[in-house]
Formats: sequence, structure tokens, C-alpha cells
Amino acid sequence: MPVRIIAHILGVPPEDQDDFRRWSDGIIEGFQLELGRDLPARFARTVTALLRLNGYLQRQIRSGRLMDGVLGDLHGTNEEGGITGEELFWFAVLLLVAGNETTTNLLSTMLLTLSRDPEQYELLRERPELVPSAIEEQLRYSSPIQGFYRTAVADHQIGPATIPAGSRVLLLFGAANRDPRQFPDPDAFDVQRDAAGHLAFGSGIHLCLGAHLARAEGQAVLRELIDRVSRVEVTGPYAWNTNSALRGLSRLPVTLTS
Ligand code: HEM
Repeated sequence: MPVRIIAHILGVPPEDQDDFRRWSDGIIEGFQLELGRDLPARFARTVTALLRLNGYLQRQIRSGRLMDGVLGDLHGTNEEGGITGEELFWFAVLLLVAGNETTTNLLSTMLLTLSRDPEQYELLRERPELVPSAIEEQLRYSSPIQGFYRTAVADHQIGPATIPAGSRVLLLFGAANRDPRQFPDPDAFDVQRDAAGHLAFGSGIHLCLGAHLARAEGQAVLRELIDRVSRVEVTGPYAWNTNSALRGLSRLPVTLTS
């Protein structure tokens, strides 16, 4: 669902979306750092996917077919050539990577959480007005982006410690979102909690550009779910992905009972 929505926003027509999805998955595979014998093959798949997506977008731009979407808008208002075809391509890759895996992970971890906590699920079914706060709570609880690096541009004082200019700092959004000083009983999933102030989308000038879209997608899925499904059950072994920054499931077999 997230990749289809991004494809739509970018202006990729429905008939090309299966290809788009395949390339997108191939590109994201390159972000899963897992050393092993198949590393060269995975790397080759990522590069192939990048080249295919680039070829596709450049063809679409040249033939004028990419007009009903963000990329078409950027291209159309760009007669002086301020944005090159290559920049458009990397912009598409940025949105794909930033908005696809993250939202997918929000949705998959939400299913796991709801299957583990049938009482909270039942409460949501009784009180659908809690859907927006349940999504904020799920964002806090699972933190699909666990952390990012920053580089200190100047000496920065935190309590007795000084972070020297030039040092790399790992900001752990996931840890902040489970900080008991901010969220009492932080390891409990509580759809009635006021999770405002969570850092799942970061903060400051780099605050997530797609936060509203991700929230809208999460809320739409949860509304459909509570409307149609009375029980969410995990039916077999599930697996977490191995990326230290992106927290989500690579496998989650579930049964939805209507
Ligand atoms: C649950 C889903 C999502 C989560 C948890 C998430 C999380 C984040 C976080 C933590 C950052 C800030 C990184 C920083 O501080 O440097 C960020 C930035 C960003 N996100 Fe998201 N994101 C999500 C969905 C999306 C979607 C759907 C899009 C686009 C369609 C998107 C596009 C971006 C972009 C472009 C940035 C960079 C903003 C900048 O540097 O100015 N994200 N996101």
C-alpha cells in the first residue's frame, strides 16, 4: 500500500506500478546490511533496480508521460533547467526509501501489537474515535526509524557533558520514545495514552516531510481493520529485519477473523 501511494503521488500510472514496486523493493534491499555469501547478488539486484527505475523515469520524462504527479510538476515548472533529470530521479528514490519501508514497518508492527493485545484491539473496536491516538501510540511504541546520526557543528553542552564540534552523535528516537520520564510505563501499549511529543518523525528542521501522509495511511488501515476484523492472530514464526535503523518485520503470518 505505501509504495502504491508514493507511486501515485509521483505520477506513475497504475499499469506501471508492479514494476515500480519491484524496483522499489530491490533498492530497499540495498539498505539491509547483512553480510553473507549472497551479498554480491543482493548488491547487484539493488544496482539493477536503481538503473531500471532511472531508465523508466527518464523515458517517462522524455515522452511527457509523467505529468500528473509531483515529478511532472517539478519537471514542468523547471524550464530553465534548474533541476536535472538525474536530480528528479534521486528525488524519487528519496521519497521511495523514506516513505515506503517506514510506513510498511508501521503497519506490520501494528498488526503484531494488536495480535498481542486483544483487549486494546477490542477497546478500539468499541471506541473508533481512539484510532488517531492509537496510531500515535504505535509510532511511539515501535519507532519505525530507531535512530539517525548527526554531526555536531559546534560544541554542545548537555548537563555535565560536552559534545565536541565535529563529533558524530547517534540520536536514538526509539530510546527517547520509551523514556519513562516522558511516558509513564513506557513498555505498555496503551491506545488511550497521550503520545504527543514522541520523536518517531524526528524533530526540528528535518522533521519528517511525510508525517501527515504516514499518519493518514496508518489511520486508514486501522479504521478498515476494526471495521471488518474482530481478531488478529499471528499464526506462525515471525522475523524482525536486521537493519539497525529501520525497525520492522520481514515476515509476519497472520490470520484476520471477520
Ligand atoms: C511511519 C512512517 C514514517 C516514519 C516513522 C518516518 C520517520 C522519519 C524521521 C525520523 C525523519 C527525520 C530524520 C532526521 O531527523 O534527520 C524523517 C525524515 C523524512 N521523511 Fe519520513 N517517516 C515516515 C514516512 C515518510 C513518508 C511517507 C515520506 C514521504 C512520502 C517521508 C519522507 C521523509 C523525508 C523526505 C524526510 C527528510 C526531511 C528532511 O531532511 O528535511 N517519510 N522521517
